[in-house]
Amino acid sequence: AASSFQRIKRRYILEILFNGLRRLEYRGYDSAGIAIDDSSTISSPPLVFRQAGNIESLVNSVNEEITNTDLNLDEVFYFHAGIAHTRWATHGEPAPRNSHPQSSGPGDDFLVVHNGVITNYEVLKETLVRHGFTFDSDTDTEVIPKLAKFVFDKANEEVTVQFCEVVFEVMRHLEGAYALIFKSWHYPNELIACKLGSPLLLGVKELDQGKSNSHVFQDAHFLSKNDHPKEFFLSSDPHALVEHTKKVLVIEDGEVVHLKDGGVTILKSENERGRRNGISRIASVERALSVLEMEVEQINKGKYDHYMQKEIHEQPESLTTTMRGRLIRGGSRKTKTVLLGGLKDHLKTIRRSRRIVFIGCGTSYNAALASRPILEELSGIPVSMEIASDLWDRQGPIYREDTAVFVSQSGETADTLLALDYARENGALCVGITNTAYTRQIEGLYRVALAIGSDTISSQKRREAIIDGLLDLPYKVKEVLKLDEEMKDLAQLLIDEQSLLVFGRGYNYATALEGALKVKEVALMHSEGILAGEMKHGPLALVDENLPIAVIATRDACFSKQQSVIQQLHARKGRLIVMCSKGDAASVSSSGSCRAIEVPHVEDCLQPVVNIVPLQLLAYHLTVLRGHNVDQPRNLAKSVTTQ
Ligand code: F6R
Repeated sequence: AASSFQRIKRRYILEILFNGLRRLEYRGYDSAGIAIDDSSTISSPPLVFRQAGNIESLVNSVNEEITNTDLNLDEVFYFHAGIAHTRWATHGEPAPRNSHPQSSGPGDDFLVVHNGVITNYEVLKETLVRHGFTFDSDTDTEVIPKLAKFVFDKANEEVTVQFCEVVFEVMRHLEGAYALIFKSWHYPNELIACKLGSPLLLGVKELDQGKSNSHVFQDAHFLSKNDHPKEFFLSSDPHALVEHTKKVLVIEDGEVVHLKDGGVTILKSENERGRRNGISRIASVERALSVLEMEVEQINKGKYDHYMQKEIHEQPESLTTTMRGRLIRGGSRKTKTVLLGGLKDHLKTIRRSRRIVFIGCGTSYNAALASRPILEELSGIPVSMEIASDLWDRQGPIYREDTAVFVSQSGETADTLLALDYARENGALCVGITNTAYTRQIEGLYRVALAIGSDTISSQKRREAIIDGLLDLPYKVKEVLKLDEEMKDLAQLLIDEQSLLVFGRGYNYATALEGALKVKEVALMHSEGILAGEMKHGPLALVDENLPIAVIATRDACFSKQQSVIQQLHARKGRLIVMCSKGDAASVSSSGSCRAIEVPHVEDCLQPVVNIVPLQLLAYHLTVLRGHNVDQPRNLAKSVTTQ
């Protein structure tokens, strides 16, 4: 949502909202919608556009409508509050009626955009239907604007009710996870946003009064009332904000953001007892702005064709940035230090844990799995692995003596958050580790392992070797990226295959799982990561001269076992691609023909960071060559905020 408080043209409003959606498209891209004001002078139902398909389909349909209706793009607004949404279908197929903004009904008295899921929507829907509401969509969201209308109509019979009061009352009835933005023409130039569980950011841009541009006009009267005209932006994630402002407020659960008349108020309902009696007291809270650590360049493709390609090729820089100031080598005594601000006060408690439990989903789970051996080695504490949804499904045992480490790229995965609540309720010490890229997640987890193990003298040499290895990783990753063309050739060979198996073990079991996940997810080719130690217990039956099999056999303690796996696969005429350490190509293919991919050798436990890169490149090229959309994999949202 974007809300502006100075004279702006409709053209600019649309541009801001569409661009915001483009930045968020990776979160969901099966339908989109937008609501803007119809008139700058009278309070009337807004213009609402909803469209199935990606953002550009919405942009095209809005442009068509503008042409057909002669809507004036140069109409000037003193204030404007617009909302927009891009959706990944959970309840209901992608269709205009299921797109957001969802509406309270004819007249669009209340419009709502929603990120999350309302778990008690069926009960609410039944009640609203009993009160005469009819529903148009299959979404869980539709109950929200309808509930707002119900609350508004009921309250207005007696007194004039404020927008925020309506929203607080609606929130009282909602269960689940949500970030919501409400717009209503009964409250012109106002927006209300609130959240529970799902992320919500408010961006604040102070407009430079001396500066003017083609879209923005200065107005003496307006300025005399408001010294600092501002634009406000509300978004689920910083990608949509960073091109406008870096000043943000991270909204907390239960808070309500009220944008009105050029200002913003953050409100909270006080007095829990009062709330239960229906007499909540609403108070404003003081909050300090924080500064986003993100650059505009990060959200652009730059010289690359796709975001995935950019992400793969920028790993040397992104690893350097993550380690900067956090891993330090040098000083007079050549000390090697790990700095982990967030954990330092809890290290003693973690070291006393009975076990450490890693919890995550998908790629994040794989990053945790890659880090498990080194954490066990350096801490001496057993580390168990949990897929977040499975832990919750089983209600698996979690104890007060456990440290539960939650790993996530987005920090907002519903399954992981549910498991977090569960672990908290069971009294475990909960630690969260977030980073947006697999290799950076591993790097972060290694720092955690180093910090936990830092009190053990016997492992000091090993820790120092790991720190040295980590600091050299960006160079090694740069080197392995030179395999780009080779992986493109390989992708060309595999382009028509139905399936690809990836065998790994030890440090590289996770590499096999993650490589296969990438091939599956973006290239839409069946792929399975298999623990090589399990080969004889079933998967061997699949081996023939047709099925391509990638084997990770870089030098570490498991190397000789992987050599024997390769021999057994050769004996069955397996079609092999072997990833090996530099100089080993001849020896790994001596027992039969195979394609060898040589990667730089690094400290054994750091090899997964290097080894995943050729598999990422393979998945990328396979996707492009097979003609699929690299950055918007079918059926997937990059942020899975629903169960
Ligand atoms: C795959 C991928 C997913 C996520 C998973 C969990 O490329 O990104 O497997 O890792 O959906 O999400 P996060 O990591 O945000 O908790």
